[in-house]
Amino acid sequence: MSYREQWDSDSGFILAALGSAVGLGNVWRFSYLAGENGGAAFLVVYLVCVAAIGLPLMLAELAIGRTAQLEATGAFARLGGAPRWRLAGVPSVIGAFIVLAYYPVIAGWALRFFVEYLAGGPGTLSGEAAERHFLAFIGSATPMFWQASIVLASLLIVRGGVGHGIEAANRFLMPLLALLLCTLAAYTLSLPGSWAGVSFVFAPDWSALGEPGVWLAALGQAFFSLSLAMGALLIYGSYVPSSRRLPLPALAIAIGDTVFSMVAGLMIFPAVFAFGLDPASGPTLAFITMPRVFAQMPGGIAVGAAFFGLLVVAAITSTISLLEVIAAFLMENLGMTRPRASLLASVAGFLAGVPAALSFGVLAQVRLWGLGVLDAMDRFVSNLLLPLNGILIALFVGWIWHAAEARRESGLRPRLAACWHWSIRWLAPCLIALILLHSLGLLGAAG
Ligand code: PHE
Repeated sequence: MSYREQWDSDSGFILAALGSAVGLGNVWRFSYLAGENGGAAFLVVYLVCVAAIGLPLMLAELAIGRTAQLEATGAFARLGGAPRWRLAGVPSVIGAFIVLAYYPVIAGWALRFFVEYLAGGPGTLSGEAAERHFLAFIGSATPMFWQASIVLASLLIVRGGVGHGIEAANRFLMPLLALLLCTLAAYTLSLPGSWAGVSFVFAPDWSALGEPGVWLAALGQAFFSLSLAMGALLIYGSYVPSSRRLPLPALAIAIGDTVFSMVAGLMIFPAVFAFGLDPASGPTLAFITMPRVFAQMPGGIAVGAAFFGLLVVAAITSTISLLEVIAAFLMENLGMTRPRASLLASVAGFLAGVPAALSFGVLAQVRLWGLGVLDAMDRFVSNLLLPLNGILIALFVGWIWHAAEARRESGLRPRLAACWHWSIRWLAPCLIALILLHSLGLLGAAG
């Protein structure tokens, strides 16, 4: 067998996986979903989803990769003991590819705002002006340029390989990210009037718990934010040496990602409330509402630069994991070299993302399920493909992978391993199915 790359250190692996998990999902997506779905109540449902479904599945995905030492499709084939199981890895690769297409578009918006704030800020963006500014930008063709810049930056990292590219980049970028986040949160919490935002994040309105839509949104967010069911953790797990145990890294990644989202909420909502703006403004929260906040805030231009810089860094460490899924697929199945595979994956991802980049401009008329292209891609992946693929992965690990081997490879002590195996076999698939069916209105007595 040919030589396969590995992480240079345990901490490098954890940082890289955390880098994959922490991304636009924690800041842009989490904050607008929480804003729309009842604030703290959403957080409670989200925590339940992470603990009951996300964590067991994360361990499962890491264990598949670490045991097989192969990319997604090859890994399922090896553990299933037959080539036909390769198919079980296909949804992961497809999911990664779709996200790889539209994710750099949003990251590109952040990059453009970052550059604009560095250059002195977009002027006074209070009221309508902030909205016009953003809509004019996404309505043009320039988002493609910024999208391409994000893809290019990710390509340069992934080309460098597992240790010298991905691990080295995360080692530098993750501490930077933590520093930016803490500084920003401390600053916005010090603003007068900000505590209404804190109680919005921490004081639940329990009636939201009865709404199936809130559960589906939280479940989709848990998958998206933890980078589950897209082959990303699987491929990162496959670079972990067989001698290493996975439970603690999995726990660290899940907790780290969740804490990051909560602190991001503590950075965004206090600022939103301090200036009397609407927390439930949807996907544009980060790009319209926040610039309004910065326009009114002392030192707003520097804060704006830091905020969008944070988004860019967080997005790049995630994009590289998506790119790696596709690149590894090409390397291991078509025998391509890393430079070629990463280039091909980047170009294909970029092209597939162009319709998303133009979906607020020339393609604004194109609607899928009543949504624009970018929103439709995001919704389709998070609320349908990922949960379904989550069921598939759970059933595979629970029923197809040899039980004794799966438990051993989980690295848990026998009792805990049995609990984990049970939850992967029964609890996770049933819960996911329940939430999916419920939200589709296929279960009676909904809401
Ligand atoms: N977890 C990332 C985020 O929260 C998104 C992502 C999903 C990245 C899957 C890689 C793989 O932004």
